[in-house]
Amino acid sequence: MILITGGAGYIGSHVNKKLYKKGYETVVLDNLIYGHREFVKWGEFILGDLEDTNLLRLVFKKYPIKAVMHFSAFAYVGESVKDPQKYYLNNVKNTLNLLQVMLENNVKYFIFSSTCATYGVPEKIPIPENHPQNPINPYGKSKLMVEKILEDYSKVYGLKYVSLRYFNAAGADPDCEIGEWHEPETHLIPLVLDVAIGKNEAIKIFGADYPTPDGTCIRDYIHVTDLANAHILALEYLFKEGKSDVFNLGNGNGFSVKQVIQTVEDITKRKINFIEWERRPGDPPVLVGSSEKARRVLRWEPRYYELSVVIGTAWEWHNKLYRDFKK
Ligand code: UFG
Repeated sequence: MILITGGAGYIGSHVNKKLYKKGYETVVLDNLIYGHREFVKWGEFILGDLEDTNLLRLVFKKYPIKAVMHFSAFAYVGESVKDPQKYYLNNVKNTLNLLQVMLENNVKYFIFSSTCATYGVPEKIPIPENHPQNPINPYGKSKLMVEKILEDYSKVYGLKYVSLRYFNAAGADPDCEIGEWHEPETHLIPLVLDVAIGKNEAIKIFGADYPTPDGTCIRDYIHVTDLANAHILALEYLFKEGKSDVFNLGNGNGFSVKQVIQTVEDITKRKINFIEWERRPGDPPVLVGSSEKARRVLRWEPRYYELSVVIGTAWEWHNKLYRDFKK
């Protein structure tokens, strides 16, 4: 059985579905602060918080857990700057609780959701895994701290882990059962879709004076289903090879904010009004990852790499979100 913390969230729920389809049994543990109960359609569900070490002990007693996939974390970069304690307590301290109870129960396999935010402002593009990690906000630092803790734990406790550094997760389940639903929403693609659907008048472009071809920031948008597939491959790699490692997960292609807006116009056939606004503090101009290592070692092959496909699935989901969930 696989324990999925944060399995009611955006990425965790897509991984839960994929594990189920592959024949794995899963148990989701989520406090539902940001997750959605409706997204846990597969496996078992436990409402609870990683702060609660006794609950964790009960979970590990009740289920024959072989591996843990750890998604639960706070992930608002701006908020992490204003309230770092919230991030260090949840993202670091609660992860330590989880690792403690795993070790007590002799559970040795761990997949960790890390982020390109651990690199800070990149010195070279595309970013390889061995690029210096100098995160510029507490969110990125909290994830890097856990990566370092995993390195130390694996040396002495026999823990086998894979840290996956995601670039910009985007898109939705191609069957449209689950998708992106953040409250509040801060991510570019769903906010542009809010304009397309008529919920917002215009999208603010945070900075049009960057040193990029059209002046707006460039990001590597990776489809959430491709991310989910990488998690299965990483888990099977751990089971088979038993070697701890770190992988970037991105497409290796960058798209600017204006290219995203243009693609939304093409897909939705609606006009997207935008306002060129000031820069958002802490945004690197370009973040594009090299995922050559995940392709080579895990044999990962992103399928939904075209921006029109990423946005197409997101658009289908966005319509369903307003129709069925945010009524
Ligand atoms: N943007 C806008 N207007 C908006 C929202 C975003 O112009 O209303 C721009 C941002 O400035 C950025 C790009 O769109 O240039 C993408 O922004 P997102 O907020 O969608 O994504 P980020 O790149 O900021 O964040 C993502 C993940 C974080 C992770 C970060 C690493 O969501 O969890 O990458 O830098 F930490």
